[in-house]
Amino acid sequence: MKDKVTTTGLSELKRRGVKIAALTAYDCQTAGLLEEAGVDIVLVGDSVGMVKLGYENTIPVTLDDILHHVKAVGRGLGRAQRRPLLVADMPYLTYELDPTEAARNAGRLIKEGGAEAVKLEGGMEIAPTVKELDRVHVPVMGHLGLTPQAIHRLGGYKIQGRKADDAEKMVTDAKVLEAAGVFALVLECVPADLARVITRKLSIPVIGIGAGPHCDGQILVTDDMLGLTGGAPFSFVKRYCDLRPIAAAAAAQYCREVREGVFPGPEHHKGTPSKDSKDGVRG
Ligand code: KIV
Repeated sequence: MKDKVTTTGLSELKRRGVKIAALTAYDCQTAGLLEEAGVDIVLVGDSVGMVKLGYENTIPVTLDDILHHVKAVGRGLGRAQRRPLLVADMPYLTYELDPTEAARNAGRLIKEGGAEAVKLEGGMEIAPTVKELDRVHVPVMGHLGLTPQAIHRLGGYKIQGRKADDAEKMVTDAKVLEAAGVFALVLECVPADLARVITRKLSIPVIGIGAGPHCDGQILVTDDMLGLTGGAPFSFVKRYCDLRPIAAAAAAQYCREVREGVFPGPEHHKGTPSKDSKDGVRG
């Protein structure tokens, strides 16, 4: 195993020009698989609401939802020798109203959930909250550009920072967040040139999603890059494999074989498994 990824170690990777690979996970199996693959940061994103819980957007996701999933992901990562940094998203309205309430909620993700850091969406308006979380030793990752919790105000999932004023504000927001203490910044759906400017201006790592190749690292939603989510992916997603049709075909074959009496065959039916037998029993 290579060195444990830490919030402080990430800046060192940036200094050395080593690109950072981050992916989302919501369950223990996926978490284990990502760790095996060598991922640096595992994010329990509030995208869980859309990807796993069937919501139209991330807004209904609760702190308890994230707690539930971050515990599962933590169980899937190595315990004594965990390498990736485990980051949990703070859902909508768990941090915006009051820094003290934000600290209490973030503290639950760290203390009960086992997260090593939290991610917050927003610009300079959340700087006091970032400082309060820093005061109670909760490392914060920022998130600018397309911030899905603001989807109704933004009017849709579209590229942010195209106009000069918006771009300038994003640069200022990024600098204010860095000064407030964020250890890294996610930039979502911003023009590649703007992402390059922000990446160069900050000494903390900038992790892009739909933000071009100049960031210090990249993040994708795992289900998107594995081809598990249905429908056309966002244009910035690369599907590294196409698991959904493979899994659907396997499930369809199973249905056929059950109905035709082909499964279970003799090789799957060696008698009733006992407590001591090697046959796994679930349920
Ligand atoms: O919720 C999420 O998965 C995210 C990433 C897409 C950055 O915020």
